[in-house]
Amino acid sequence: MKLIITLALLAVSHAHIIKPVCDLLSIQNIIYQKEVLKENVNDPYQMAIDYNTNTLFFSYSAASPMTEVDVFEQAYLNLKTNEFHIISGIIGGFAATVDNINHKVYLGGRKGIYAYDYEADKATHVNPNGYSIWQLFFKDKLYYTAYPQERVYTFEDGNSIIVPELSHTMVQLVALDNDHNMYFSNSSGLFRLNESDKLIVELGDYNINSFTADINGNLYFSTPSGFYNIDNNMNVHQLADVDDVFGLVVDGDNNFIYGSGDKIIRLTPTTKKNCF
Ligand SMILES: *[C@@H]1O[C@H](CO)[C@@H](O)[C@H](O)[C@H]1NC(C)=O
Ligand SMILES: *[C@@H]1O[C@H](CO)[C@@H](O)[C@H](O)[C@H]1NC(C)=O
Repeated sequence: MKLIITLALLAVSHAHIIKPVCDLLSIQNIIYQKEVLKENVNDPYQMAIDYNTNTLFFSYSAASPMTEVDVFEQAYLNLKTNEFHIISGIIGGFAATVDNINHKVYLGGRKGIYAYDYEADKATHVNPNGYSIWQLFFKDKLYYTAYPQERVYTFEDGNSIIVPELSHTMVQLVALDNDHNMYFSNSSGLFRLNESDKLIVELGDYNINSFTADINGNLYFSTPSGFYNIDNNMNVHQLADVDDVFGLVVDGDNNFIYGSGDKIIRLTPTTKKNCF
């Protein structure tokens, strides 16, 4: 009897050692459980989901021990099977977006934009001599921001065209809502270009590091310390305080997936009320 109790106590304290931190997070009165999907990917950034195949694309920083220079690489994670695959052939691969209607994946790097066919594992350079891509966003057509220009362009039928209303302003990251209002960030904060009157409205001094649209086109963004959404009335709401965030996406079941430190974490609703 004594032995059984001792063993039971050992098991409990053991469980304690394995999970020392609280793995729950509350977002808009729903409790979510954290689950690590992938470890050992430094600064997972610029994530995008192919909702058709449940595949998460992202970039991460692969510091080279020889040169001590940060090199960006791109990879995907199959959210059903957990298969992890490093994508080759893109120099300085950094940006990703998916045309979820035509099932096309676009990746961006130092030399421009690539169409990626992942059954063949082949990246085709679609704009040779293109600018260095900072971010990609698909909404009926492909939008991208370029570095060091800090401008936003569309890419259609092989042609890059600067978005004329924003040709005189810096843009780092961009996203469009279902009404084609254009949200953009630069080092001053978050702004909206109203589709109806083409006026630029300032929304706040957010230090945005990712924009994303869920499967229904609702917009979310992250800063290094939290998650936010933009509602149908174009208002910004903070959803959660989270540490060390590099990027946020929302999967097809409305779970949050984010990059933090060297991990990719999924938040799934749970009926648990507390950590232990
Ligand atoms: C960011 O964009 C706004 C709106 O166009 C502009 O007023 C501001 O000067 C820009 N910030 C920088 C640093 O260029
Ligand atoms: C932007 O669009 C919204 C909705 O169409 C409108 O209410 C608002 O007045 C517009 N202009 C500005 C500057 O916010």
